[in-house]
Amino acid sequence: MENFVVAIDGPAGSGKSTIAKIIGKDYGLTYLDTGAMYRMVALYTLKNNISLENKEEIVNALEKIEIDIQGEKFILNGEDVSKEIRTPEVASIVSPVAAIKEVRVKLVELQREISSGKKVILDGRDIGTVVFPKADLKIFLVASPEERAKRRMKDYESKNIKENFEEVLASIKERDHIDSTRKESPLKKAEDAIEIDTSFLNISEVVDKISSLINNRIGR
Ligand code: CDP
Ligand code: CDP
Repeated sequence: MENFVVAIDGPAGSGKSTIAKIIGKDYGLTYLDTGAMYRMVALYTLKNNISLENKEEIVNALEKIEIDIQGEKFILNGEDVSKEIRTPEVASIVSPVAAIKEVRVKLVELQREISSGKKVILDGRDIGTVVFPKADLKIFLVASPEERAKRRMKDYESKNIKENFEEVLASIKERDHIDSTRKESPLKKAEDAIEIDTSFLNISEVVDKISSLINNRIGR
């Protein structure tokens, strides 16, 4: 099993990162959270007061942004921002930042570089369509917006971040809309991806489904 690539795509809160981490451990695949990379660029614009309207400044900032990923740690220009990238503030601005072509070009290049020559599992929005169109297995996770907002509320509660359900739901719906209607690499199911609706499935049920698909591929 050389250069094995598993692509997990889907909207916010569909369970991508939780499931990708478990499958990665079970099968010895390096896990890459590509959403965290877009969140890092978004955080940089927040920290440097760069307006979302000012695309040119965001593009110029790209050369000043150094992304380093060490296991579960996300380092932006030498600073560990693993917690900061998960706040509602970052969630509220990440989609317009990720819609910028130059941002995507830089991050996709980095994603391919990090994955090169490895057995990997990546989660995001465009892994099966753009980053690795020839991935060995492509999964597209979906769930109702209400279920996804409920899950995200629990995540925020566990981090002591106070949020309102209606606002989280609206933010998720807005992100879905921007991500799936943007011109560059929109969120969509690759033709050869297998869709799994996780609305009524718990984590281990989703993991079992994906594990049997991988076992089939690798002839286990
Ligand atoms: O964890 P959650 O599903 O909330 O989002 P994420 O995976 O951290 O991604 C944050 C945002 O980054 C998404 O809403 C997209 O706008 C963008 N993204 C993207 O455009 N392409 C990817 N491969 C991954 C994320
Ligand atoms: O990465 P993405 O935004 O797609 O979702 P996630 O961060 O993996 O999952 C969001 C939350 O939903 C986490 O707290 C998961 O534990 C939970 N979850 C769940 O309750 N049931 C599932 N089938 C999948 C995820």
